[in-house]
Amino acid sequence: MRLLFVGDVVGRSGRNAISDILPGLIADYALDLVVVNGENAAGGFGITEEICQDFLDAGADVVTTGNHAWDQREALVFIERQPQLLRPANYPPGTPGRGATVAIARNGARVLVVNVMGRVYMDALDDPFAAADRELNACPLGSMVDAVVVDMHAEATSEKQAMGHYLDGRASLVVGTHTHVPTADHQILDGGTAYLSDAGMTGDYDSVLGMEKDEPVNRFLRKIPTARFQPALGEPTLCGVAVEVSDATGLAEAIGPVRIGGRLAEALPTFW
Ligand SMILES: [Fe+2]
Ligand SMILES: [Fe+2]
Repeated sequence: MRLLFVGDVVGRSGRNAISDILPGLIADYALDLVVVNGENAAGGFGITEEICQDFLDAGADVVTTGNHAWDQREALVFIERQPQLLRPANYPPGTPGRGATVAIARNGARVLVVNVMGRVYMDALDDPFAAADRELNACPLGSMVDAVVVDMHAEATSEKQAMGHYLDGRASLVVGTHTHVPTADHQILDGGTAYLSDAGMTGDYDSVLGMEKDEPVNRFLRKIPTARFQPALGEPTLCGVAVEVSDATGLAEAIGPVRIGGRLAEALPTFW
């Protein structure tokens, strides 16, 4: 099975990468399942129902989020009627929406997708390890589902690596999001779980984390806001990770970075 995970889509530039690049990628590589993190899709902050639908129309099967899940207040409402949109599973009980879903891949496989959020240098939600346990125990790999993808939305690489090892052997892929910078530590862990500390963002890298760079630089220099953060609108890089998953075990057989367009060095999966 061929999985693609795409990192945080930022603003219009990032959305253009999804609409312009993703459908061709799905066709060219015969991708079976695509997960897109959309927490920064609406002007850098949150996601709207229309944008979420655009991602699904472009071929995403599941859209994940993170700490920016509720920046567009409409998400609190439409997430209830959009089972393909996830928010972190470790929000307190009673939070709208869901933190996990089972998607049917193009090859017919059942894929559990789980979204959790770290607590180091972030809002302290409930324990993400316990939340991941709950979701994976409810839908175990090999019996209930054929593959498991976990989006660990977190700031600290230590917490993300710990999650990777904690879920090793129980997930096909544990991938970090949130930092908006791709890491180069893609690997298959001892138990067969593909792991990457951060998928990077999908957006304009001539920026500070996808935002037009003048105001972020100004705030570091002077500590006084002079303007709102606006997404950078230059040429986007679609950033993510590709994973070949064994049809027999649901564990990973290969993992490779994906970077297309914009100013980052191109990377395409070599094993497909
Ligand atoms: Fe983000
Ligand atoms: Fe985030």
